[in-house]
Amino acid sequence: MKGKVRIVDVAKKAGVSVTTVSQILNGKGSRFSQETQERVRQVRDELGYVPDFNARNLIVGSAKTIGIIIPNIANPFFSTFVRGVETAAQAGDFIPLILSGDGNPDLERQYVEQLIQRTVDGLIIASPSVDQATIDHFLKANQIPYLLIDQNPIDEGDRVSTDDFEGAKMAVSHLLALGHKKIAMLSCYNPALNQKQRLEGYKAQLLEAGLEVNEQLIIESSLDKKGGYNASEAVIKTGASAVFTVNDEMAIGLYRGLGEHGLKIPTDISIVGYDNIDLAEYVSPKLTTVSQPVFKMGQVAFKLLLDRINNPHAPAQRVKLPVELVIRDSSQRYYGQ
Ligand code: RIB
Repeated sequence: MKGKVRIVDVAKKAGVSVTTVSQILNGKGSRFSQETQERVRQVRDELGYVPDFNARNLIVGSAKTIGIIIPNIANPFFSTFVRGVETAAQAGDFIPLILSGDGNPDLERQYVEQLIQRTVDGLIIASPSVDQATIDHFLKANQIPYLLIDQNPIDEGDRVSTDDFEGAKMAVSHLLALGHKKIAMLSCYNPALNQKQRLEGYKAQLLEAGLEVNEQLIIESSLDKKGGYNASEAVIKTGASAVFTVNDEMAIGLYRGLGEHGLKIPTDISIVGYDNIDLAEYVSPKLTTVSQPVFKMGQVAFKLLLDRINNPHAPAQRVKLPVELVIRDSSQRYYGQ
């Protein structure tokens, strides 16, 4: 098999030097005639030449690459977040390297190191377990721009956030307005700070309505469909007429579990989720949920990171995006006592 097309092949065929080709293809060829520039680009296309990225880095001083560390790409919330980042990054000619840390601090530390070794221009970290020590020893020490978001609890630098406390209050307030008084919350094991804020919002809204917070109504499980499914017996045992789940995936798992126990949503039990993942309007009944503008969160996260890459000493930027309650068919009026 013939080897990879090299810059020297383009130079030979175009009848110019390697430096000329390199400068033209790296957008620094304005001093050459239009004709030369066009010829070089034409030969590049004819031969299918793709520049060696490492060599290009040396010239432009940027890998045009960012790292994204999220807890789990299989969760639609994070895959949509990544799509948002990708779209914005693509427009800026950046490529993201995406890694799922699974909440494993050792793995996440390795990922941070490996991304730095690959000379990323910056990092977006949504994982909870990239801690202050990792940030100080690796990111700050190497002057790598970064943006912390969502489950990462460290409150420093640029940030895109949503109001988790208010979002949870909206969900519970909706159920209270429908006449529900015994409202359970399906939370997750080891909740991250933003998830704890949802729990606090749930409690605060009950207290505001003059109801007591009953810890027996708060169930924990894993933050995925299986977690929701596995929690269904515990939810039924609470005798609650409604459940607020900390994310939509758990709500969808709960749908199946409750159905297998012969319960109908929303006739027997109302459910409100959190996130508004795309599946929320395709399950039956369509899920009432608190919508996070997750695609936009990804786009804004990239924009803030790019600003930081371009202006390392600019003041920190904080953007708070609104959440909203999307009322669908999984919640209905409670007619019991
Ligand atoms: O579904 C994943 C959940 O964890 C989302 O609600 C997101 O905000 C994260 O914290």
